[in-house]
Amino acid sequence: QTVAVLFGGRSSEHSISSATAGGVLGAIDRDRYEVIPVGITREGAFVLEDDDPAKFPLDAAHLPEVVDNGTRVLWPEPGGDRTLRVVRADGSVEGLGEIDVVLPILHGPHGEDGTIQGYFDTLEVPYAGGGILDSALCMDKHFMKVVLQSAGISVAPWVTIRRGQWTTSSETLRAEIADLGLPLFVKPARAGSSVGVSKVDDLSELDAALAIAFAEDDKVLVETGVTGREIEVAILDSAEGVRASLPGEIVLTSRAFYDFEGKYLGGDGVDVVCPAALTDAEVAAIQDVGVRAFEAMDGRGLARVDMFLTTDGDLIVNELNTMPGFTPISMFPKCWIASGLSYGDLITELVEAALR
Ligand code: DAL
Ligand code: MG
Repeated sequence: QTVAVLFGGRSSEHSISSATAGGVLGAIDRDRYEVIPVGITREGAFVLEDDDPAKFPLDAAHLPEVVDNGTRVLWPEPGGDRTLRVVRADGSVEGLGEIDVVLPILHGPHGEDGTIQGYFDTLEVPYAGGGILDSALCMDKHFMKVVLQSAGISVAPWVTIRRGQWTTSSETLRAEIADLGLPLFVKPARAGSSVGVSKVDDLSELDAALAIAFAEDDKVLVETGVTGREIEVAILDSAEGVRASLPGEIVLTSRAFYDFEGKYLGGDGVDVVCPAALTDAEVAAIQDVGVRAFEAMDGRGLARVDMFLTTDGDLIVNELNTMPGFTPISMFPKCWIASGLSYGDLITELVEAALR
């Protein structure tokens, strides 16, 4: 079967997606699948990429990138034979063969938010991972929290601010924010990998933090910082049903929070551990909350559910990621490896789930 691996994209997480592609191109089962790598440039052009894992390493000094090589990939028309075509730089058109499924390993807006999912639904091309609704809900931290709360899942208290509201009613909003307590986390509503996120330990830092978040999005969340262990659980929805991995833990030693540098640039002061040291009862509770959160969102394919385990034993869900970081060192594959599924087999499960 032929899989179009789609990566890069028009989001601030472009390079993380490209690094994931390096991992996936290196690990996908080549006896089972023909692979066509399709990159999306930062401007949004679909280009035919090289099938070369070494081109997209997770290198902190030089994060990988999809650059415009002059080719353009043409997706099949609905109802047709699903032949993928490429327009070469010289204008010639070449068929690349029929694709069976797309594996979109895209993070953030235009890739993890339901838009590309809607595009492939329109083209009648099967794709792995989240569908339109779960992707859109989980990309928007405001609506994600609304849905989690209505499903009886605890979330951190928060205030949502639209850009226009901040100019017209900032005094009212400041009072609501003061009631949240300290520390606070200020986040763009629709971004990922901690891009645009700041920790606020004193209200005098609020305006600067909002400016950073508003640079990413017109909608921003201000949340109460939860004290507790930072736990993540990986969910897979495949032929075997919806199941949860062993939970992992983000252990901060000297870093203020799990920021972009700690995630991808080799910044010290953070360890990504799986399996986390937990009692059997804690593991069961975390897996239960993970599956319930996934189902509350109408989850499809996969998600990583991030939560806090407080000293009182409460589980407070921070967020779901419908296309979690998927580099070989990322938490999602790590949790499945700890649960007995190799990185390559994990990719096979995702692809096969889309073909069901
Ligand atoms: N948004 C990043 C890729 C993650 O959730 O892992
Ligand atoms: Mg996220």
